[in-house]
Amino acid sequence: MIKAKAWALRKHFDGFPKDGDFELKEEQLPALKDGEVLLEAVFLSVDPYMRPYSRVRMKEGDVMIGTQVAKVVESRNSSFAVGSYLVSRCGWRTHSISDGKDLTPLLSDWPENIPKSLALGTLGMPGLTALYGLMEVCEIKAGETVLVNAAAGAVGSVVGQIAKIKGCKVIGCAGSDEKIAYLKEIGFDEVFNYKTVSSLEDALKKASPDGYDCLFENVGGHFSSVAIPQMKTFGRIAVCGSISLYNDTTPQTGPYVQPHMIFKQLRMEGFLVHRWEHKNVESLKQLMAWVKEGKLKYSEHITTGFDKMPAAFMGMLKGDNIGKAIVKV
Ligand SMILES: NC(=O)c1ccc[n+]([C@@H]2O[C@H](COP(=O)([O-])OP(=O)(O)OC[C@H]3O[C@@H](n4cnc5c(N)ncnc54)[C@H](OP(=O)(O)O)[C@@H]3O)[C@@H](O)[C@H]2O)c1
Repeated sequence: MIKAKAWALRKHFDGFPKDGDFELKEEQLPALKDGEVLLEAVFLSVDPYMRPYSRVRMKEGDVMIGTQVAKVVESRNSSFAVGSYLVSRCGWRTHSISDGKDLTPLLSDWPENIPKSLALGTLGMPGLTALYGLMEVCEIKAGETVLVNAAAGAVGSVVGQIAKIKGCKVIGCAGSDEKIAYLKEIGFDEVFNYKTVSSLEDALKKASPDGYDCLFENVGGHFSSVAIPQMKTFGRIAVCGSISLYNDTTPQTGPYVQPHMIFKQLRMEGFLVHRWEHKNVESLKQLMAWVKEGKLKYSEHITTGFDKMPAAFMGMLKGDNIGKAIVKV
């Protein structure tokens, strides 16, 4: 018998999450049945989507949703060998039992020198989000100018680097000088700290006086209102996230963007990474190839200890992370 630990949503978040909204539970796991595997969490992901999804997908008392890289510690399923690693969507749990249906094995030739935690970041859902948002939604072309916000995060840092690989000029902004230094290091052309510039509008104009062909939108709200008027004619906006709105208790209001959309003939499209799930294996191989070639660099903000899951989640929402926010058990 295994005693698993799990973090549950004790109380729905009201505004920014608080320690008291989470509750650590113990679960007694039964013996495995035929076709099942026992998983042990090695790395867990904390992601922005957990904040808005908690409201629509969870009720109080449910275990927090989320993915993890897990190790198979016992198996009664011939598709999953003991000792193998995979990505599981079992939530914030130290141990879990699966019938194998919701499990994604890591790429078969995963190199020893590449951390398996990247399967939750650059070589996982956030990396795929960056790739699909740029290639499928923005349809970037060499020579274009791409703007990305939350640029030093899990998605944003990959967006900027793929756009550079594809021959674009990349402008990124983030919320600390340390993040700005990191963005320069990984090849962004122009960067600024949105928290310290005196005018966001002037900073965007200075970074690209001719405007922007593509906006990879991770933040939304005020940023969008200021950036959209600076799009070029026929510009494309990939609405990936709106983290500046996730903790609002009352909705923010305009300025409204429709006149700019019309007169500049802009295209704005929201998307979820799962739309292109059928392409994931080939896309992950592409991301892995870039990582191996040194063209796609990664950074991780690792918090150690399953007991620190809520702190790591809240820290990520506040902007503590450079690259992907991960919890190592
Ligand atoms: N559509 C999809 O399928 C999909 C998939 C994955 C992620 N997403 C979205 O993509 C965005 C980035 O996700 P991620 O996993 O890469 O997270 P992340 O960027 O690694 O972490 C979140 C970052 O957001 C920034 N932030 C927080 N509050 C902000 C605010 N009020 N204004 C501006 N920036 C703020 C912080 O960086 P600073 O220090 O720079 O403020 C923080 O580090 C999120 O909006 C997420 O919901 C969408």
